[in-house]
Amino acid sequence: MKKTIPFVEIVSTGRFLPPSVTTNADLESIVDTSNEWITTRTGIKERRLAGNEISAAQMGAKAGVDALDKSDLNASDIDLIIVSTATPDRLLPSMACDVQALIGAVNAVAFDVGGACSGFLYGLTVAEGHIATGHATNVLVIAAEKMSSILDWNDRSTCVLFGDGAGACIVQRSAGSRGIIGTYHGSDGNLAELLHRPPGGLVKMSGQEVYRNAVRSMALASERALEDAGMKAEEIDLLIPHQANVRIIESTARYSGIPMDKVFVNVDRYGNMSSATIPVAMDEAIEQGVLEEGMNVLTVAFGAGFAWGALAIKW
Ligand code: UT7
Repeated sequence: MKKTIPFVEIVSTGRFLPPSVTTNADLESIVDTSNEWITTRTGIKERRLAGNEISAAQMGAKAGVDALDKSDLNASDIDLIIVSTATPDRLLPSMACDVQALIGAVNAVAFDVGGACSGFLYGLTVAEGHIATGHATNVLVIAAEKMSSILDWNDRSTCVLFGDGAGACIVQRSAGSRGIIGTYHGSDGNLAELLHRPPGGLVKMSGQEVYRNAVRSMALASERALEDAGMKAEEIDLLIPHQANVRIIESTARYSGIPMDKVFVNVDRYGNMSSATIPVAMDEAIEQGVLEEGMNVLTVAFGAGFAWGALAIKW
């Protein structure tokens, strides 16, 4: 579906990162790893870990309140809360209901979407559908991930890669030319075993296969979202990719024809926060003055499922 006129726009963003920083050197005392290995293979230098003091829902609520504070809305104006998480504090109720209670969004409908690392982009597309059909007006889309709670801290091939954090945005009907103008999503459940968490267990990943599929699928999703928007890679001012590994980001950018000076990277400071990486990156990019109104933005994600997607956004 081609949308030269966007249905919805992101009117504000927010984030919350737990304050406790764990460096690669800190991990050297937990598993048989080295700062050198982690830095050269992934680009990650440190990550935030939430510890026992803060839950995933609390992180999500803080990111949501930050997005509300940067908008002209109150919590009671929100009529839909969509939470993306692979790490709910409990399985029932949905984390979105816990977030709703924490922020006092008494007029909202609240539910979760499960799209693993791609969940935030899926959440934006669900929000777009609700707004386009007139079922919602002010949508809070949150991604909140406490990856530390599902990691095997004896498995050096996974535990060094991830971090905790939350990001959020408020989505409304587009008032003009700003908004989502290109969309592409894909999934392949046949490859689920390559990155999964068995019931009651911890994250298991076949790193190299995930890596190869990530690059291929993110490049394809970028191309399709640009096609949907009727745009060329040269027109993109900023690429905001899912932050799992700087080498995946560099390959995706190269295949997509976007130079690295137009790519936002913060994986060095936070590691892979699953679906929270993109909204956190958006909020930081705005704060740093890297992301400004009028820019053509491409955002792309890949993760467990496999599930992937990309959106082209006139910011
Ligand atoms: O959000 C989407 C989900 N995740 C991803 O996108 C991650 C995708 N995968 C990757 O980023 C990379 O595959 C990794 C960073 C996970 C691994 O990098 P790699 O270059 O593919 O390394 P590898 O798995 O081939 O492992 C190479 C070596 C192995 O040793 P041997 O068998 O060659 O002796 C591993 O045992 O590195 C070893 N190794 C480590 N060494 C030190 C694995 N983890 C570590 C570690 N520290 N933490």
